[in-house]
Amino acid sequence: MKGEKHMNKELRKAVIAGNWKMNKTPDEAKELIEGIKPLVKGAGCGVVVCVPYVDLAAVLEAAKGTSIGVGAENCHWANSGAFTGEVSAPMLTSMGVQYVIIGHSERRTYFGETDETVNKRIRAALDAGLNVILCVGESLAQREQGVTGELVAMQTKIALGGVSKEELKRIIIAYEPIWAIGTGKTATAQQAGEVCGIIRSVVAGLYGKDAADAFTVQYGGSMNAKNAADLLAQPDVDGGLIGGASLKPADFAEIVKAASK
Ligand code: 13P
Repeated sequence: MKGEKHMNKELRKAVIAGNWKMNKTPDEAKELIEGIKPLVKGAGCGVVVCVPYVDLAAVLEAAKGTSIGVGAENCHWANSGAFTGEVSAPMLTSMGVQYVIIGHSERRTYFGETDETVNKRIRAALDAGLNVILCVGESLAQREQGVTGELVAMQTKIALGGVSKEELKRIIIAYEPIWAIGTGKTATAQQAGEVCGIIRSVVAGLYGKDAADAFTVQYGGSMNAKNAADLLAQPDVDGGLIGGASLKPADFAEIVKAASK
């Protein structure tokens, strides 16, 4: 499966999002966001930090009056009920949370997340008014089997089932090859660009070229201050979902700078 290169990059928003994963206590989170704040002031791209549930209150408070968007790292598909340990989308919006990551490979690998539950969580997030960062991506074995394109297309299609063209405006897709996450092994700019192009082609097939041209696709997986500019120079890479480097204010700010237009 091949993606075309889509050159209308100026039509879409560049967004750099941090995924703090299971790091930082509320006090540490406050310190980290205070460190990031001055460095990304006036950024020429969207800046979002997705943080553990227990850090949301502290980070929302610290981000007040800035243009930094605040997100959670997951949400449940039901609004409330007997789901011990889960957090619902309306709970997040009630706090002022604007974004949520759905379908991260760590959720899929360690917590049994499937394309179907990803789709249900997206439905709930959209209904509650959240913006979604949907993660898709292949394992090393899948890449070696040559099924990356088909797999990512399938993940994208199932996740977006029932999502309207209007709702699509509140979705970002992050292409995160599992073999590149936390490994220091980044996809080459060409590999990242190619798969982000495939994702955009799938979106074009579902929603039309205008929607796809305006759609933000991020790359994630060992993106850092050094390799960001190269990855972001790809026509179909509009931003990044950053793990490790988002915990270091200077590195995160450097990536934001690379994405700023
Ligand atoms: P790293 O940047 O640490 O590889 O993590 C990427 C990621 O999983 C972001 O969601």
